[in-house]
Amino acid sequence: MTIRIKGTGSALPERVLTNSELEKMVDTSDEWIRERTGIRERRISSGDTVASLASAACMNALESAGKTAEDVELILVATCSPELLLPCCACQVQNTIGAQNAVAFDLNAACSGFLFALDTAYAYITAGIYKNALVVGSEVLSKLVDWNDRSTCVLFGDGAGAVYVEGTKDEDSGIVSIVQDSNGAKGMVLYCNDRSADCKVQEEACDTFIHMDGREVYKFATRQVPECIERALEKASLNVDDIDIFILHQANIRILEAIAKHLKADISRFPVNLDHVGNMSSAAIPVLLDELNKNNKIKKGQRIVLSGFGAGLTSGACVMIW
Ligand code: UT7
Repeated sequence: MTIRIKGTGSALPERVLTNSELEKMVDTSDEWIRERTGIRERRISSGDTVASLASAACMNALESAGKTAEDVELILVATCSPELLLPCCACQVQNTIGAQNAVAFDLNAACSGFLFALDTAYAYITAGIYKNALVVGSEVLSKLVDWNDRSTCVLFGDGAGAVYVEGTKDEDSGIVSIVQDSNGAKGMVLYCNDRSADCKVQEEACDTFIHMDGREVYKFATRQVPECIERALEKASLNVDDIDIFILHQANIRILEAIAKHLKADISRFPVNLDHVGNMSSAAIPVLLDELNKNNKIKKGQRIVLSGFGAGLTSGACVMIW
């Protein structure tokens, strides 16, 4: 038994923030941002919340799966930027979409969050506890960004993506293997205090903004992710050449190129949407998945690798057949 994705959905704020607008806000240039990251523009919330974006993405995923909210047994929302500590975002989503039969809770593994939530759904469904799940990544990072810090404010965007998954005994589709890693010893290379910050965690920075040692995260991603993908492939008894599409966390085009080079895989097999949405943390993978699915860029039977990496530090990969 495994799980397969039956429907995908996404929701993005309408407001587009371009690199040239950022040039007027901090000492940066469109050229620097494009060359160092690949990002041209991102979406920024003007009123959308993590819960409202997540709910819209879920409705979209249910429509794509041909299901109703009453069918849903489990809602998992991955986020690191919820509006409320209580109740969790997943319960807000449950209420908004009318999924009264579902159990709902959040989890936070930053940019690996969607992947870890998908793995959690896999564990629940293959254990026979639930039959299906909505798995969501939703972020409004713009409220955690220091808009005076050019080293981070050019990177992030807001948005949400969701998938509807269900159990299947069909061996020709679904998740084949999963790998997850966490390294708490490196936690402070990418961190953000709680918004009620009492500054106990990192005394020198008493604010509630995202702080990142970009070079350390870059090194981690380019070393750890290929290794993680190779382990997931080995567990699936497959190799790099067997994979049609690598859907990776969208942080930086140079990271994607370095990973492709390490794996000796052509970059054309690594779809990119960070140019128009930036880094949306847990929402990055499901939004890209929805773009590809809705544009018929993924065909039944294709072998796909999903891989996420980010704060924690966390990383993960899974191999699936579409
Ligand atoms: O979502 C998961 C977590 N995040 C990531 O995966 C991000 C990983 N890291 C990265 O993608 C890259 O490290 C960054 C895009 C964040 C930075 O790129 P970099 O090539 O590593 O630049 P750098 O930090 O080494 O900085 C190079 C120079 C510095 O100036 P000096 O010291 O050489 O004079 C920075 O001050 O670029 C400067 N700089 C900027 N210049 C113009 C930093 N940010 C900017 C900016 N505009 N926005």
